Amino acid sequence: MSTLTASASQTLLLRYHHTRARTEAICKPLEPEDTVVQPMVDVSPPKWHMAHTSWFFETLILLPHLSGYKVFHPQYAYLFNSYYNSLGSRVLRHQRSTITRPPLRDIYAYRQHVDEHIHKLLQQTPEEELVKFLPILELGLQHEQQHQELLITDIKYILGTNPLLPTYKEQPAGTINSDATPGKFLEVPGGHYTIGYTGEGFCFDNEQGVHEVQIDDFEIMNRLVTNREFLEFMEDGGYKDFRHWLDEGFALVNQNQLEAPLYWMKQDDEWHRFTMHGLQKVNLNDPVCHISFYEADAYANWAGKRLLSEFEWEAASQVYPPQEGNFVETDLLEPSAANPAIEGVQQLFGDLWEWTYSAYHPYPGYSKALGAVGEYNGKFMINQMVLRGGSCATPESHIRTTYRNFFHPDKRWQYSGIRLASRR
Ligand code: AVJ
Ligand code: FE
Repeated sequence: MSTLTASASQTLLLRYHHTRARTEAICKPLEPEDTVVQPMVDVSPPKWHMAHTSWFFETLILLPHLSGYKVFHPQYAYLFNSYYNSLGSRVLRHQRSTITRPPLRDIYAYRQHVDEHIHKLLQQTPEEELVKFLPILELGLQHEQQHQELLITDIKYILGTNPLLPTYKEQPAGTINSDATPGKFLEVPGGHYTIGYTGEGFCFDNEQGVHEVQIDDFEIMNRLVTNREFLEFMEDGGYKDFRHWLDEGFALVNQNQLEAPLYWMKQDDEWHRFTMHGLQKVNLNDPVCHISFYEADAYANWAGKRLLSEFEWEAASQVYPPQEGNFVETDLLEPSAANPAIEGVQQLFGDLWEWTYSAYHPYPGYSKALGAVGEYNGKFMINQMVLRGGSCATPESHIRTTYRNFFHPDKRWQYSGIRLASRR
């Protein structure tokens, strides 16, 4: 029994430390000045991410479960609570860059303080009592992984809006520029599909409420839409033609004078894009990236196709189970071209989150947890769209075919791309 105890908590501890170290590794290439800015409201300063994820463990695990635990600093809850009304007042989201103090080194000390106490808690808890905080510890780790992806997208935005366009990291050696993969539409047979998480492991509450959905026959494109294809839309005046656009999308295009995806810029009359490896010529075979739902939908309309519903996406993932993907572990931090040698549906996992034409709503029977955890997902189930499949910034162990990501339809700074269904 006692050896079992040691191994269960030992495995958890290893996972905990690995996950926490990954967050710090993501911030390693940054200068301290990079970690406090907030160039737009959706972007949080990296320093804030590092503190907020620690606050989550401190508030939801250490305070309730480690007797005698004292918070690292009494004001940190005010500084680093994100949106939990049940956990008190906080710095408003758009004011996160005002938190120039505490300095970065204090946040590293905060992380270490929290880590040491989680360590202590896991070491001293007998196996039969681990269950008391196992689910919330799991949520803390999954939460940290979500913030790892947000850190990467926020860092890209911070560097990409800096006039010097600094490189985050050199492109990994041996990166292959794949040939063009012809776009093909593959059959997904209609029928009743089970939607939602039915496995034994972790899932978010928004994947629960398993239910059957009737789907008609449809066809899914074998890969993501490429820069070459999107450029055809641009050169055909796609951004100027109201007929392709939802009204809200067309208004945004005009207000912001949009004419290309985020991070695209013309140099010497050629399209370039800011990448994590600096400014590069647009590679035509790579998937088009950093587009809003409105741009995805306009492109689909122009192409005479449509986006998938989130249910069609999940059904497709049952017919063509994704095996692997370009996740954060490849260290590419950018989407990569589909492989022309592979038959079947590619890129369902990794590369880019795929905008679906499904509003982020609760599944039937959804109920939110009591207390602060109930504020995690449920209260955002309005006015956002669902994205599926993970991206090149997602940890591989974080994704599932039932995973529902969600953002407002105008957001472009996430690693988002386009998957088409044929119109039928
Ligand atoms: C699922 C990525 C939309 O960005 O707020 C972070 C993830 N939830 N902390 C978000 C999340 C709580 C969430 N997204
Ligand atoms: Fe969070």
